[in-house]
Amino acid sequence: MSQDLSLHSLLSSSPLPPSEARLLMAHVLEKHYQLPRSALLSRDEMLLNSEAFHQWQELQSKRLAGEPIAYLISKRGFHDIELYVAPGVLIPRPETELLVEIGLQEIGRLHGPVTALDLGTGSGAIALAVAKAAPHVLVSATDQSFEALDIAKMNAQLLKLEARVQLMQGSWYEALNNDARFDIILSNPPYISSLDPHLSQGDLRFEPISALTDHAGGLSCLEAIIDSAKDHLNPNGLIAVEHGFDQSDAVVDLMKTAGLRDVQTYLDLAGHRRVASGRNSGGQ
Ligand SMILES: C[S@@+](CC[C@H](N)C(=O)[O-])C[C@H]1O[C@@H](n2cnc3c(N)ncnc32)[C@H](O)[C@@H]1O
Repeated sequence: MSQDLSLHSLLSSSPLPPSEARLLMAHVLEKHYQLPRSALLSRDEMLLNSEAFHQWQELQSKRLAGEPIAYLISKRGFHDIELYVAPGVLIPRPETELLVEIGLQEIGRLHGPVTALDLGTGSGAIALAVAKAAPHVLVSATDQSFEALDIAKMNAQLLKLEARVQLMQGSWYEALNNDARFDIILSNPPYISSLDPHLSQGDLRFEPISALTDHAGGLSCLEAIIDSAKDHLNPNGLIAVEHGFDQSDAVVDLMKTAGLRDVQTYLDLAGHRRVASGRNSGGQ
């Protein structure tokens, strides 16, 4: 007996969790039939043609082998934007939206033109979300990875933000002119220890290793970013960094040692201290 290729039958017989199967099927429908996601409900008797069916099977087996959904459908929602993502960049995480919110809150306090810097921009997530939400802000973003910068550039173009987001290649502040100063610095650097067993588990196996770990104990990138922050902040400028759930005390110490004042910590939705911020001293 031939296989029933209706959406209803393929979805109900899929070994994937239903929400994942629907995301992958919506991608197949969009790609092969230019149909919106709602077709999953309104056309559930529709039969897939053989090309679409083969793509469905391929996506399903890749997901069963552990590939992240975001890479399979090439996109991920973040804050108020949708980003193109591919294996060369970290898949933006919901907890990183906290950094965007802290940045936007600070932008709301400032008057006149505002400048912001995103260090280790990856897909461009933080830089582009800030630029989208705050049209008067000029955003700079750096990354060491050429592959990540190509993807960030593509996202800037897709979101029509390329005129307000400057993307630069280099290690942390080295990508900038020496005299570059910002009102706000935001960063979600690699902070997983190279010994953390999670690096070889689940979705992380498929993400770029240099986006996840500092290849050391987890704090070295945070330290490099925090140590030089005062050289790149305007008077009273704010730096906020994301860190691991168990790194808060160490990051707070790094900020105090670097001479930052008004050091604060912020909880993520799971109740973990996930972000720390500090301020440069005021001007003369
Ligand atoms: C955790 S990912 C964050 C990506 C993005 N900001 C986000 O939140 O989705 C860290 C990023 O830092 C970049 N990176 C790693 N080492 C770097 C360095 N020395 N200088 C600049 N960027 C670096 C990686 O390529 C990666 O894109």
